[in-house]
Parts: sequence; structure tokens; C-alpha cells
Amino acid sequence: MAVSPDVLPLEELERLAVEVALEAGRLIIDERPAGLGVAHTKSSATDVVTVMDQRAQDLIRGRLSLARPGDGFYGEEEGGSEAASEVTWVVDPIDGTVNYLYTIPAYAVSVAAVVGNPRVPGEWEPVAGAVVDPERGRVFRARRGGGSWLEGPGGPAARLGTSGAADLSQALVGTGFGYEAGTRLWQTRVLAEVIPHIRDIRRFGSAALDLCHVAEGTLDAYFERGLNPWDMAAAALVVTEAGGVVSGLGGEPPSSSMVLAAPAGLHPLLDGRVAAGVQAADAVGRLGAGA
Ligand code: IPD
Repeated sequence: MAVSPDVLPLEELERLAVEVALEAGRLIIDERPAGLGVAHTKSSATDVVTVMDQRAQDLIRGRLSLARPGDGFYGEEEGGSEAASEVTWVVDPIDGTVNYLYTIPAYAVSVAAVVGNPRVPGEWEPVAGAVVDPERGRVFRARRGGGSWLEGPGGPAARLGTSGAADLSQALVGTGFGYEAGTRLWQTRVLAEVIPHIRDIRRFGSAALDLCHVAEGTLDAYFERGLNPWDMAAAALVVTEAGGVVSGLGGEPPSSSMVLAAPAGLHPLLDGRVAAGVQAADAVGRLGAGA
């Protein structure tokens, strides 16, 4: 990373992330059209985009470029720009779009300020960010070195900490599935190796919220293949500032290959178990049975 995060106005970046994520959260609730449908699809017929995904991203992008014109923008939907400053905003306007479409109240707006190149795994790092859960009125926020915090309706901000779990057999673990059939088959094979060794699995449908659950200890851990930087950038910082560890497998940086998040004592155990699952799933693939 070319720039040290220590020279950045981290408080300002965090405040801006919270402000724009809250505004977008209000937009997607207040202006959701009656009979909302699918505007178009992306990687597969189940990878949906609604008009509100694009509208929320456009709103966030507009607000950020007014406040910090030189910063870059990298979002899930259409429209991006390279950074003239050291900061790029990595944004998922609605993480959990399928939940949003079905009116399941588990989706989030995710806004992160990162340094480095968010398109290259290991070459970027979030320095400030916010994940807003507009249905529950909850704001998860963090900046590098400042801890991670949860603000809820009517209460003071509470500092977050992971569950501290260190026993894999007792761990409640979140995961998710991609939109492409072959990826999903592979993911279920990995899961089949993991699930006998944990307390149970949860699939809520928003990676950003899953990671925030790890930060607040309402999930012990989380893993998923196929995440994009916008799904995880803000929430990964919320986890690490809550004392958790976020990585790929075997100490690799988090990437679309794998993201693992867990308290420090649990992380190596989850890593080992998921790695065994990946080996088993890849072996089936090599035998020509799919994935
Ligand atoms: C998805 C959600 C889901 C995860 C998928 C993501 P999107 O994001 O985070 O929980 O399992 O991998 O793509 O498409 O709703 O922004």
C-alpha cells in the first residue's frame, strides 16, 4: 500500500461513511416502489439487481464525490472511477439484494474507505467504514485503530467484541452461497465437511451483516467463497477492530477464493477445517463429478 493510513483523516472518513450509508438506507426503505421487481441479472439468473440497488449506489457516489472529489469509487453496480487521492470508496448499496427483493429484513448498505487497489487481493486495506442495517436501525462502524462500534435506535454507541470462542465444536458459524450453480455445488461439498464439526450453520443472506455478527459475537465465525470487495470491505474492518481475524485460507489475504472471520483462538481451527473441506471438494471436482 502506497500510503500509510495514519496520515488519513480517519474520523472524517468514518463519519462520511456512516452519513452516506444511513441516507442510502433511508432511500431504499422509503422509496422502494410497490411491486419491486428485478431490473436485470448479472452472473446468473438468480444474481439480481433492482432499480433501488442502482439508485442507492448513485446517491452514495454523488454524495461522496461532492464531499471528497479526488477519491476513487468502486461499487457493486454500474459506474466507477479511479482515485486521484489515496482513498477509494468500496460500496455495496444493498448487500443481501435477494432478501431485499423478498422483503426479508436482513440486508445492509456497506460503505468503506480503502487504501490501495481494491481490484487486487492483498493490495488494499479498509481504513474506515460503515454497515447500516436499515430495517433494524443499526449502524456498525469502525476506523483503523478506533475500535468498532454499534449504534442502535435510542441507545448510546456500544463497543463491539467477538464472542472470543475457541472451541470449534461449539461454534455457530455463518456462511453464504454464490449465484452460479457450479460454485454452489462446490460450496455445499465444503460445507458437508465442516458441518459435522461445529455447533451449527447459519445462512442469513448478507455477507456484510454476517461479518458484523462475528464482530458483535452473535455468530462465532463466518466463511464464504466468492465474495467481492464491496461485500466485505467495511465489515471486515468492523471485525478486525472488534478483535477478530479476517483472512483467506492458510493466511492468504481475504479474496473471492475464501474469506474466513473468527476470534483469534478459533480462526486457525476454522481455517484447518475449511481447508480440509476445500481439499475434499476439489478432489470431487478433479474426478470429473462437477464443480
Ligand atoms: C450477496 C450476499 C450473500 C452472499 C453472496 C453475496 P449481494 O451479496 O452477501 O449473503 O452469500 O455471496 O454476493 O449480491 O446481495 O450484494
